[in-house]
Amino acid sequence: MARILITSALPYINGVKHLGNLVGSMLPADVYARYMRMRGHEVLAICATDEHGTPAELAALEAGQDVADYCAENHELQKKFGDAFGLEWDYFGRSSGPENHKLTQHFAELLEANGLIEERTDQQVYSIDDARFLPDRYIEGTCPKCGYEKARGDQCDSCGSLLDPVDLIDAYSTVSGSKNLEVRDTTHLYLLQSKMVPEIRELVKSRTDWSPLVSSIANKWLDEGLHDRCITRDLKWGIPVLKDGKPRPGFEDKVFYVWFDAPIAYIAATQEWASHDGGNRHWERWWYGEEAKDVSYVQFMGKDNVPFHTVSFPVTLLGSHEPWKSADKIKGFNWLNWYGDKFSTSMKRGVFMDQALDLLPADYWRYYLMANAPEGSDTTFTWEHFAGVVNKDLADVLGNFVNRVLRFTSSKFGDALPNGGAAGPREAALTEDLSKSVAAYAAQLEALEFRKAFQELRGIWVQCNEYLTEAAPWSAFKEDPDAAAVGVRTAINLIRIYALLAWPVIPETSKRMLKALGREGDAGHWPETIAEELQVLKVGDGFEIPDVLFQKIDDAQIEEWTVRFGGEASGEE
Ligand code: 2FM
Ligand code: ZN
Repeated sequence: MARILITSALPYINGVKHLGNLVGSMLPADVYARYMRMRGHEVLAICATDEHGTPAELAALEAGQDVADYCAENHELQKKFGDAFGLEWDYFGRSSGPENHKLTQHFAELLEANGLIEERTDQQVYSIDDARFLPDRYIEGTCPKCGYEKARGDQCDSCGSLLDPVDLIDAYSTVSGSKNLEVRDTTHLYLLQSKMVPEIRELVKSRTDWSPLVSSIANKWLDEGLHDRCITRDLKWGIPVLKDGKPRPGFEDKVFYVWFDAPIAYIAATQEWASHDGGNRHWERWWYGEEAKDVSYVQFMGKDNVPFHTVSFPVTLLGSHEPWKSADKIKGFNWLNWYGDKFSTSMKRGVFMDQALDLLPADYWRYYLMANAPEGSDTTFTWEHFAGVVNKDLADVLGNFVNRVLRFTSSKFGDALPNGGAAGPREAALTEDLSKSVAAYAAQLEALEFRKAFQELRGIWVQCNEYLTEAAPWSAFKEDPDAAAVGVRTAINLIRIYALLAWPVIPETSKRMLKALGREGDAGHWPETIAEELQVLKVGDGFEIPDVLFQKIDDAQIEEWTVRFGGEASGEE
């Protein structure tokens, strides 16, 4: 049994997340955590809302709310929708909590003592009309790298480059739209990443389990040369900058940069988790020193987050000279696009978690998103594709099998597993094939290859449909009722195995299937030995016929949703 620490990139607090955010970090983290728990490992799955920086301030401004109130409210909302999507965190924390304040200040103090932070006076954009500096998202303009016209001060959404606001072309303030800007001197703290290049190179080289996308982004960064990064901002909301426990002179109106404190919040959220159980939980076991050495730490994130996790956060951890745990595996995702365009929070483009749940239960989305996760390249969501996958995989292949088997059994043998004698060669062949497929499914999940894993799972459903077609209890029933009985008894045991295997990805459906078989207690159990698992439900065990597991999506719905969500590329960004 291993100990596995799992973190998902922390969703920004600025509103309910869209399906792209969900599939790029939170959902795969949950699927992996569920799977690893099933395999008997000790898992700690941590997520939190990322509450600082310009995304939070600007969203609060737009909502006309005080930023602290805005964050508190939106944390609850995100938690609620996460729960509704079945995201089972051990803890869902807040980067604005007291633990993160303390820990961020602790790291800054150590990094400065170790010569990795210094004050520098540099030039930043100041808006004369707004009477303030314009950090990060307070300024937009044309990307100097790709020409995209709505690049944000800190990052271009189009080409993914991290930007310096002073380099934007035709820049304007996002508060007022004013172009009456000038560059002024201001003093900030800089993290001297350039001094840590050898250590970071060594780390990247040693991490053979980072996904190829992740390693290539990390190496590209290293090859381009690591720049020292400004880690404070002229903002009010955030973690105050201290010196010897008091406000740092000259930094009274500044706070730490959101990307400095956000990854530290992985640890702080674990501390919050530990503080919740009368001292029985120990965060150090997961993060610090000797006792955390044998933890396997797996991070999930979208590709834009990769530089911060492969370079900046490791600089913080290693540069502290304290024995912190850094990621053993990093799973990075490409983009899920919306009709070839980007999902966009600011443009409200795409489907958001609350809206998705208004249309269909979570499992429809969970399966679709994971089976089509943007792993090798960006992928595109369309209603037609979504409906095709739901109708074929979930309604036809899985749902239909369950209902067909249980209805037939009920009508011919009553609501209990029939006798009919021992299993024969067909069942032996099924056992052998299924054992191989289940091992392949497990191997793909372990390798964090989600598309392949769910292709295997679908293959298993198909395989068992084929078994049923061959056993054909409906036609065998007349001349050989015993053979028909063996067929349905095996098929009902297969339903149980389906439910077990599907638990990581469609947990609610898995529970419904188990409930129909009177085996709710089996949820989360891994079918280790297929030959034995095929015998768990015995002659005489009762069952109920569940309501249809998955409703098909029809053309009228596709049309309605296309109109409602503007399911076509808008061309604008
Ligand atoms: O890109 C994002 O959505 C960020 N909020 C991710 C932060 S991940 C971590 F470092 F906290
Ligand atoms: Zn760009």
